[in-house]
Amino acid sequence: MAATDHRKIIRLADPAALAKAAAERVLARIAENSGRIAICLTGGSSPKQLYQLLATDPCRSRIPWDRVHWFIGDERFVPAGDPLNNMGMARAIFLDQCAPAANIHPIPTATADPTDPDRGAALYEHDLQSFHGADVLDPDRPLFDLVLMGVGPDGHTASLFPDDPALEETERWVVGVPKAHVEPFVPRVTLTLRALAACREMLFEVAGAEKRAILTRVFAGEDLPANRARSIGETIWLVDHAALPENFRG
Ligand code: 6PG
Repeated sequence: MAATDHRKIIRLADPAALAKAAAERVLARIAENSGRIAICLTGGSSPKQLYQLLATDPCRSRIPWDRVHWFIGDERFVPAGDPLNNMGMARAIFLDQCAPAANIHPIPTATADPTDPDRGAALYEHDLQSFHGADVLDPDRPLFDLVLMGVGPDGHTASLFPDDPALEETERWVVGVPKAHVEPFVPRVTLTLRALAACREMLFEVAGAEKRAILTRVFAGEDLPANRARSIGETIWLVDHAALPENFRG
């Protein structure tokens, strides 16, 4: 699989249509792989409708739950049961009722020092490498079938914030981010651009008028984390009408 700068933008009417389109893409990627499947989820509010759809028929019965493994692209460094915990949100909405416990791979946040997200990052990197069976990323054998992403008001994606050193990391797969640049202001753990890119498909979900300003900047090519996040396979942005910049309408 060759590296590509190509980005495809798909326009949807509203958040409900967007979630449906996202679910179809998840199901399509799952259907393509007859072996073990790895999906990297995202936090925030944007994926919630998608997660609800995955837990409900017709999607639910189309997923071979025993073959699908669920990871998370970034985590707020709070205990698993905290309402801010990203994997906790995904578990509550769909994973706990659908997926075998052994197929759910949360970022560990209950480490000895709760102020040291680097420890959680090192443990998760180790988990990912054991799952992958290698500590090198081979473009011909992507780590993930699909990586879900969102974009924040400052152009961050996962927990990769503008001008943060985590953005420049080229060796590690997972790093700690001691200070978040936007709410919630808790330390984070994030996969790096390099690890996130190691997928067949990276799928952004962006909806709502409050996203239009940042999307205008992203699509204008500004140097923002969300613009630097690209898959070695396909990079697809699902955008609803309210979020679409003026010059992309019509
Ligand atoms: C997080 C994220 C983050 C999120 C964006 C968009 O932990 O907050 O994973 O990158 O995807 O901030 O968030 P919303 O979907 O809430 O707008």
